[in-house]
Parts: sequence; C-alpha cells; structure tokens
Amino acid sequence: MKVSVTTLSLQDLDVDLLILPIGHMMAKARALQIGGPIGAALSSALIDFEGKPGETLLCYPTEGRARRVAMVGLGDPYDIDREGLRKAAADGNRVAMQTKASTVALCLPESGIDAEAAGQSLVEGYVLAAYEFDRYKTDSGELRSGTERLVLHASGDEKSARRGAERGRVEAESTITARDLVNLSPHEKTPTLLGKIVERSGRKYGYEVSVWNKSDIEKEKMGGLLGVNRGSVEPPVLIEMTWNPSKASNSRPVVLVGKGIVFDTGGLSLKPTKNSMDHMKADMAGGAAVIGAMEAIARLDIPLYVIGLVPATDNRPGEDAYVPGDVLRMHSGMTVEVLNTDAEGRLILADVLSYAKLYRPEIVIDLATLTGAQVVALGSQVAAVMTQQDEDADERLDTMMTVGNRTGDLLHPMPMHAHYANALKSEVADIKNIGDREAGSITAAKFLERFVDYPWVHVDIAGPAFLKKSLPYKPAGGTGFGVRLLTEFVRDYAYPKKR
Ligand code: BES
Ligand code: MN
Ligand code: ZN
Repeated sequence: MKVSVTTLSLQDLDVDLLILPIGHMMAKARALQIGGPIGAALSSALIDFEGKPGETLLCYPTEGRARRVAMVGLGDPYDIDREGLRKAAADGNRVAMQTKASTVALCLPESGIDAEAAGQSLVEGYVLAAYEFDRYKTDSGELRSGTERLVLHASGDEKSARRGAERGRVEAESTITARDLVNLSPHEKTPTLLGKIVERSGRKYGYEVSVWNKSDIEKEKMGGLLGVNRGSVEPPVLIEMTWNPSKASNSRPVVLVGKGIVFDTGGLSLKPTKNSMDHMKADMAGGAAVIGAMEAIARLDIPLYVIGLVPATDNRPGEDAYVPGDVLRMHSGMTVEVLNTDAEGRLILADVLSYAKLYRPEIVIDLATLTGAQVVALGSQVAAVMTQQDEDADERLDTMMTVGNRTGDLLHPMPMHAHYANALKSEVADIKNIGDREAGSITAAKFLERFVDYPWVHVDIAGPAFLKKSLPYKPAGGTGFGVRLLTEFVRDYAYPKKR
C-alpha cells in the first residue's frame, strides 16, 4: 500500500473513498465546516450518524470528486486517544474493503492529539487492518481487492503529519513482517530457513545478520538450546542481528531477545492437539517480534546500538529427544534438571540471556510465548511484564507500561518476590525447569532471572501473540504483538526527551 500526505482541499481529493473520523455529536458542525458537495452529502446522512465508536455510515456525494464518503465514529471528542484513532481507521478500512475502494483518503480529525501522533495512529490502524495472510489461498479470484493508495489528509501541520504517517507505515509493515512469520507454515520456517529469511531482511534494510550454526552453538556450550534440539531432525540456529549506526548515542548495546521455538510439540511431555499443540507454530512469536523490531529500527534509522538475538529450534519427541530426568549443563555453567520437556522456552532463552552478558548490555528485553499461565492470568490482549527486584525495578516497569499504553501493545506487571524461586529447587541439579502449578508465569521468569546480571525485562506474550478470534485491526492468527512496543521503546531510549 502506498501512503502519502496531502493538504489539498477535501473537495479536490479524487478518490474512491474519503474516510472522515468524527466525534460524538460532531457531525453537524463538521458538515457545515466542510461545506460544498461533501458537506451536503454528510448533511443528508446526518440523521443516521451519532459518532459513537465503531459506528460507520457511507454516503454518496452527487457532485464533486470523491466517489464515496464514509463517516466513522470516534466517540467523546474530548477523550480521543491513539487506540481510538487506530480503531476508527480500521473501521474505515472495513468500508473500503466492502466497497472495493482502491484509492482512499483518510482525514486527520481535530483532536487533542498532535498531528504527528494522530497521523501515525491512523496509518498504523489502517495498514494493520488491511492485512490478510493469503499465501496459501489458491483461489485468487476470491481474494479481497485491497487499498492500493492511502492518502492522509492534513489541514494544518503537514510536516508533522508526514513524519507520523511515515513512522506509522514503517511500524505497521514491520508488525506485518512478524505476523507473516508467525502465520507461516512450520515446514517453511525451520531454524535454517528462518535464518535465511532474516539474512535477506538484513540485506534489504541495512542491519547486520550472523546466523550461528550447530557447531557454533556447541562451541559456546549452549546446553539448553542443544538439549531442546535433540529430538529434532533440523539443526538449531542462533540468529544474531546488529544495528550499530555511527551516530549511535550508546556504546553498550540495548539487547532484544526473542523465543524462536518454530514448533512446540511439547517434546516427550507431549501436548494434546486440540486447543494446545494446534497453535504452536506461533511459539516463535517472540523471535518474530524481535526480527520485526530490528527491521523497523533500521528503517527508521534510530541512532542507537541495538542487538537482536533469536535462538531457534523445534521441540519434538525424536529418537534422541531429551527426557524428563535429563540434567543439562547450560551456557552459564549452571545445571538444570529437566522435569518437563514442554518447559523448553526458558531453556533456550537462558543460554542466550547468559551469552548476552558478554555485550555488557545497558538493558536486555526478552519476548517469549512462555507460559499457558500467562493466558489464564491476563487473557489475549495483555502481556505480562516482569523484571528483577532491584532499586530501578519500578522505573523499568513504568517505562515499559507507558510505551505499552501508547502503542496498544498492552502490558501488566507480575510480582517477582524472592520466595517464588523456591519452587525451582532441584534434588539433583542447581535448579529444575518447572515449578508447581501455582504462579507459572512468575516461576518461569524466576528461572530466567538466574541467568542475567544486567537490567532485564521479561515479557510473556503467550496470549496476545496469536488470536483465535479477530480484534480491531488484528485478524485471527499472528498479531505481531511486541514489534511496536520494542521499536517505540528503543526510539524513546534514543531520544529520551521526546514522547
Ligand atoms: N509454548 C508454551 C506456552 C504457551 C501456551 C504459549 C499457550 C502459547 C499458548 C510453552 O513452551 C509451554 O509449553 N509451557 C508450559 C510450561 C509448563 C510445562 C511448566 C505450560 O505453560 O504449560
Ligand atoms: Mn512448551
Ligand atoms: Zn513453547
């Protein structure tokens, strides 16, 4: 989809569909303000439009250039936020789909939000709503004809609107990169193939990629990643992405880590199929989010030294598969008693978190579809965020929550009191890989905490990474959760004063 910004008069926009987001009870004033053929069309439709969120009304101007005009409701005009704008743009996209509009104009509404943020939110919402995963649909005649050109209409601050629109497009497209990876059939994203996909992305967007092979991983003694991989016929990889622009403001990197289990059968502790194993192609969604974020960070040319790390393997019950009772010696030198082969994510992450110490990172953030307990606790629209309990813990959590609220990648903190680690005591090794049934997301985080010695934030995205039912601007399937969270976190980190 091509995205541009215009300040032409609304009456002069030659488009299949003009979308006007309008606040509650504001339609009459807006129609008068716009005037001309478009104002007349709005006036004649007013009796059926209040402007509540989710409301849309299509009308057909008898004169003028735009073939169709759609009003979309924004709700209380004094309470419009970024998420409201994303949803309104998504509602507008639905009208565009229904009418098969290929050129669409989207009007920046008057709101308390500045033109840059509003432009970004509208473009994000629109582009993300237009997403469809059609790679495996053979009947191309049935496919929807989508928007080819989106024009954002700004009346005042054109420069800001353009900056916002551009950022919104890049972040939405990078989110779509992650969605595509999650939705991809597992046989097309074996660790080796995933490495190749990322190498291609790095060449395209100008960040460095190095894909470690099995013998590299053996040399680093990553016993967790190698243990999980033992049941597989496909070798593991560790994908290392580097963005280090000459104008970077930091010398020690920000490190992003993503769980890359390309398929989780559970291993010998096999998962049941229904409502469990059937969605486990999404178990690399943390990795996909890190890959998408590295793309966005490079494309937005953010002046910060950032490293992305994605350990990738599948988890299968092969002939040589690791078994409950196996003790693994990890990259850090610690030993882990495996009591459930389905608690594999923490094993591959622990090795990479321990390897990340070598960078002397300023901060490490990991994203992982780590526990079913996260879904039980918070559902599929909010991820769990955890960090070690030191004097800066609240500040790290606040920063993450703020970015989450702004991007719509919502987070909620979980407690990390020391006693939760008791559940991980092992009779035979330094630690075991599962706790009791209680507080499963927290004991998983407590496990990871044993492998870090730097400021660290863990985000469990098991619920929000993959949807069974669609949400506004998120079709069922991979959501790309975390791409915008990580990108905006890194952008704030690079430009501390800007919001
Ligand atoms: N990938 C799963 C967690 C998951 C569950 C992600 C549902 C998305 C939706 C993870 O590897 C897993 O199997 N975790 C186990 C851990 C348990 C054995 C301690 C779980 O949550 O049941
Ligand atoms: Mn598992
Ligand atoms: Zn898993």
